[in-house]
Amino acid sequence: MYSRLNEIASEVGSPFYIVHPELFRENLRNFSKAFKELYPKFILSYSFKTNYTPFLLEIVKEEGLYAEVVSEIEYNLAELIGFRGEHIVLNGPIKDEPLLQHVANNGSIVNLDSSYEVANILKLKQQFPEKDFSVGLRINMELNTRNGASAIQGGLTESRFGFTEEVLQEIVPELKAANIKINAVHGHVSTTNHSVDNYKIIAERLVQICEKFQLNDVQYVDLGGSFFGAAPKEVDVSKRPTYHDYAQAVCDIFLNNAWFDQHKPYIVIEPGAAVVTNVFELATKVYQHKNVNGKHFVSVDASIYQVRPSGKTNYPYVEYSENEPQEQIVADVVGSTCMEVDKVAEQIKLTHYQKGDFLVFKASGAYRINLTPFFINPRCAMVSLTEDGYKVIRKRQDAKHLLDMLR
Ligand SMILES: Cc1ncc(COP(=O)(O)O)c(C=O)c1O
Repeated sequence: MYSRLNEIASEVGSPFYIVHPELFRENLRNFSKAFKELYPKFILSYSFKTNYTPFLLEIVKEEGLYAEVVSEIEYNLAELIGFRGEHIVLNGPIKDEPLLQHVANNGSIVNLDSSYEVANILKLKQQFPEKDFSVGLRINMELNTRNGASAIQGGLTESRFGFTEEVLQEIVPELKAANIKINAVHGHVSTTNHSVDNYKIIAERLVQICEKFQLNDVQYVDLGGSFFGAAPKEVDVSKRPTYHDYAQAVCDIFLNNAWFDQHKPYIVIEPGAAVVTNVFELATKVYQHKNVNGKHFVSVDASIYQVRPSGKTNYPYVEYSENEPQEQIVADVVGSTCMEVDKVAEQIKLTHYQKGDFLVFKASGAYRINLTPFFINPRCAMVSLTEDGYKVIRKRQDAKHLLDMLR
């Protein structure tokens, strides 16, 4: 493997991503299967923001799945990739009138988040009274765990997203009076624990809102994303939920609910990380080992953004070298930017840290690629491995490309 990595690096540049399309397909299929075995009216809508490498988006389309987008540019990207309007779910907090009009004409599922969007839709309906408008409503969620703490990302007790019941009291009658259909309810919450219990709370809340506000046109009950899954094999997942655990818990609630039974809507999920995390690995080359007052630093050409943007956990890695192992050291692996805090990994054990050795970091598929800034180094290449070599999925960015973007 070392000579293969070395050859790829000399042709496409280092660092580079190794993409595993077969794992992506497997994750998408397994997640869908887990739900469809219990309830056939199911839609998997892939979260673009988590990783919108076109190569992946093509796979999502080929598999007949939906696109979940949260901005105008993501919506346009879905259209360029060839997703049909009805196969796009638009979420996100910012949706101005032209976007809403365009999306309504395309028949996409649109989940409104705030009252100004309701005002925009009411205005559009006034302008085009003959046209049928349908919207979904994102419902504000509280997620309290069994020990009373909030499961919302960062331990936040209030989510900024969606409509509270108080606001629903105002807007539901307004929308109904204007003959605008409410065709979806949406309950995405980003959590830290990704626990099954969160989805029980979300599922219960969504059907409760449908019952209470008599949302009888609802065809889509959307649980959002933030599931656990697609962990690389080095991670112990024995205590973590499986796709099946989520599907079972949610279906237990829905299939025993009278409103759900009467209306039989689609269950929608919007996974990102749970289907793409293990699909990318990052190969990075070692340049230097330094010992500074007894502390070991190993410099590589990747950066913290590509491997662990949160700067918290270390990610699984494998060392590749053509040399015999050296004496084991415990080192900080430091990146290619000029920041002291550019730590790709902290205090990890290494036996290969000579110039030219490679470290391959696992679990690089979610968020890292879209969140890596144009800072000091180019966007790196992506390759997938084939039986007899490799295929370039994305080329390394050069200065001309950067200039075009900056102008
Ligand atoms: C509305 C919505 N859906 C889906 C997702 C995907 O989340 P994840 O990548 O954690 O599955 C997000 C992420 O923040 C989101 O905001």
